[in-house]
Amino acid sequence: MTQHKFLLDESRLPKAWYNINADMPVPPAPVLHPATKQPVTPDFLSVLFPMGLIMQEVSAERWIEIPEPVREVYRLWRPTPLFRAVRLERALDTPAHIYYKYEGVSPVGSHKPNTAVAQAFYNQQEGVRALTTETGAGQWGSALAMACNFFRLDLEVYMVKVSYHQKPYRRIIMETYGATVYASPTDRTQYGRSVLAADQTSSGSLGIAISEAVEAAATSGGAKKYSLGSVLGFVLMHQTVIGLESLAQMEMAGEYPDIVIGCAGGGSNFGGFAYPFIHKNLTDGKRTKVIAVEPASCPSMTKGKYTFDYGDTAAMAPIVKMHTLGHTFMPPGIHAGGLRYHGMAPSVSALVANGNIEARAVKQLATFEAAVQFARTEGIIPAPESAHAIRVAIDEALRAKRDGERRVIAFNLPGHGHFDMTAFEAYRLGMLEDYDYPAERVERAMQDLPEVPAGMA
Ligand SMILES: Cc1ncc(COP(=O)(O)O)c(C=O)c1O
Repeated sequence: MTQHKFLLDESRLPKAWYNINADMPVPPAPVLHPATKQPVTPDFLSVLFPMGLIMQEVSAERWIEIPEPVREVYRLWRPTPLFRAVRLERALDTPAHIYYKYEGVSPVGSHKPNTAVAQAFYNQQEGVRALTTETGAGQWGSALAMACNFFRLDLEVYMVKVSYHQKPYRRIIMETYGATVYASPTDRTQYGRSVLAADQTSSGSLGIAISEAVEAAATSGGAKKYSLGSVLGFVLMHQTVIGLESLAQMEMAGEYPDIVIGCAGGGSNFGGFAYPFIHKNLTDGKRTKVIAVEPASCPSMTKGKYTFDYGDTAAMAPIVKMHTLGHTFMPPGIHAGGLRYHGMAPSVSALVANGNIEARAVKQLATFEAAVQFARTEGIIPAPESAHAIRVAIDEALRAKRDGERRVIAFNLPGHGHFDMTAFEAYRLGMLEDYDYPAERVERAMQDLPEVPAGMA
């Protein structure tokens, strides 16, 4: 009998996060102030973030202890299961063994609480009373709303307007936990008002919502801090509980992955799952192939430029070196809201540029085809973001079949798709289209990149 689930007892919940800064094969590029273009100081960052998180961002310690109050909340759903996709393997008739780590068992249905809980904790520790944030599809906002509720913080969420209207259930989840949700662009911030003045019908973007949430915190006179659900080093680090548990679970299964796959929007579930395996590649002689998957319609890693750019549309957030489509990027309306960011986490970008990670772009229709095949074999309806990883896992399993090789493939399934039913229906009715982001638009957006002083790059 083939074992389907590999479950860790609560006592095996990781005690420390893995910080890849300690093992990075390339030195980190400096983070620059958006106005002065000089390296930022902790003082500048402390307007937005508590010191506990800033210190983690710059730490070179390999292991950072997870505070007990954070572990106590993690225990509500962690450790999460690792599955062997036996029925999918059978349907593909592949000699490959396919494993997936499932983060959709968290109360809000995704990996996002792994960092939301930690961020709420460190803010509460430093006496912060309220947070601001943005959310695209609503996954991140739901996670932070739950975490703020646990640590008694108020939360203000700037939700991209198109999602606010398309996904009322996500808004209601946030409100149920006690958060206040605004459709961005709003008339509450100077930047939101300027966007509306230029286009009253703007349906918003993640970059605009980030600018609004940053402005709301930065102009609060210290009353509010800002929280980000991806991209930053400490966010990816908090997510490494995923990969650390997976390492132990692969050991239970008696196998080690030849290929590790994650979808990447800002890079947090990918980094969280893959970095502990990359740690083994960098320090333990393992040779796992690691693949980050993005949509062909938002191809920051495969078509963007690796350079310095602002983290947000209004050019108020710090400038970082990353793969970017340009901070003025307006995403096409694809149904994977969580993958529509213009940039990529600096550490993921650096590892792609250095050849430690392969980046791959997949198209929307092929992604939904994989999602439906997964739902019909494994039973879980995946979030469209997650389905990007499934697409590549299936492609690799089919390649193993062609090559006649028994490869071990492991991918992360960061969330279920229960609030994405309109997307699945649109796919079923033949209303979705493929869209390749044009290289000319990337070139045009590069004209708006910040000019950084020579020597920074
Ligand atoms: C289910 C799901 N997967 C993946 C992502 C992409 O984010 P990240 O790249 O930070 O993991 C999101 C973002 O909202 C998401 O909701």
